[in-house]
Amino acid sequence: MIHPVILCGGSGTRLWPLSRKDYPKQFTRILGDETLFQSSLRRFTGKDFAAPVLMAHADFRFLAAEQAAGLGIAEAALLLEPEARNTAPAILSAALYLEARGAGAEVMIVAPSDHVIRDTDAFLAAVGAGAEAAAAGKLVTFGITPDRAETGYGYLEMTDAPAPGIVQPVRRFVEKPDAATAAGMLEAGTYLWNAGIFMFRADTLIAAFEAHAPAMLPPARAALAEARPDLGFLRLDAGAYADMPEDSIDYAIMEKAADVVAVPVSCGWSDLGAWDAVWREMGPDAAGVSLSGEVTQIGCRDALLRSEEDGPRVVGVNLDGIAVVAMRDAVLVADKSDLQAVKAAVTA
Ligand code: GDD
Ligand code: MG
Repeated sequence: MIHPVILCGGSGTRLWPLSRKDYPKQFTRILGDETLFQSSLRRFTGKDFAAPVLMAHADFRFLAAEQAAGLGIAEAALLLEPEARNTAPAILSAALYLEARGAGAEVMIVAPSDHVIRDTDAFLAAVGAGAEAAAAGKLVTFGITPDRAETGYGYLEMTDAPAPGIVQPVRRFVEKPDAATAAGMLEAGTYLWNAGIFMFRADTLIAAFEAHAPAMLPPARAALAEARPDLGFLRLDAGAYADMPEDSIDYAIMEKAADVVAVPVSCGWSDLGAWDAVWREMGPDAAGVSLSGEVTQIGCRDALLRSEEDGPRVVGVNLDGIAVVAMRDAVLVADKSDLQAVKAAVTA
């Protein structure tokens, strides 16, 4: 059995106004009827998977529990992070939790809750291949063929030409390169995007932390040893958790470890990081216009027009390169080529 570990801790500020501090994007319905979190969870409900471990910030415990229950998943373990310290502390805590439950030698799959995966069957076939490598002691990632010089992702330099479903060693892991480096890697053709989904045995990961980020282990062990059960949640100890260095799994482990392999996969993967990704996933029409909700467009080109649940009616006339996202209490109007900057506007 594979143990799914779902990360639902991010804040999603670039998807304001739909994503809010108190209601982050993974819990919203951006595409379709299910929330991103629910779609992520559903992928791991088949017979090969154990009950999931959900890693969430304490503030979102009821949202996560309610949305998991909405899928009929009653037996999920909900581990609460007292504060967001990025993915390395969260993933290590999940591995230690599995070890404490006697599953240290078993394989875990760590998945974010803000990704779209269109072809679940292709993805699960890759997970099957990854599970074998993980059981044999590898750190496994999933690789996506890049189609632009994206600077917001990690890149995997492959040793051989990538073939879907065939596990192969990663020569080098480069997390979030600058634009020139990303362009070079796209050009080279030997790089894949890191999908941000990982598989390993819990004990393999713990050993990798011992080797590459040893300062993380004592506070992580203490945060779990002193964790407090609360209404079916498990609250990691706040004092100990605060002692863990804030870092991502990518920088703390993946860039440093030698035993990294990747499964190339073509599964319609996308990280819904900002509105331009949502525009792309909504399937723009021939003029490049994506619409959702109570909206009307006349003569628009290259535009995103959305009115969210309870939002006002929106009419766009001859817009070119503009994004509008309207909600009852807030409206975003932005240059469509500058949607990553929404974060700065919201956190300013
Ligand atoms: N539980 C928990 N706690 N989850 C967290 C925390 C935390 O403190 N911080 C981030 N997460 C969740 C986010 O919500 C997201 O689902 C996932 O972990 C990854 O974090 P991001 O902050 O979205 O990372 P990223 O997108 O910048 O980069 C990662 O993903 C890319 C692909 O989407 C890296 O793995 C890149 O290498 C990769 O290409
Ligand atoms: Mg992300």
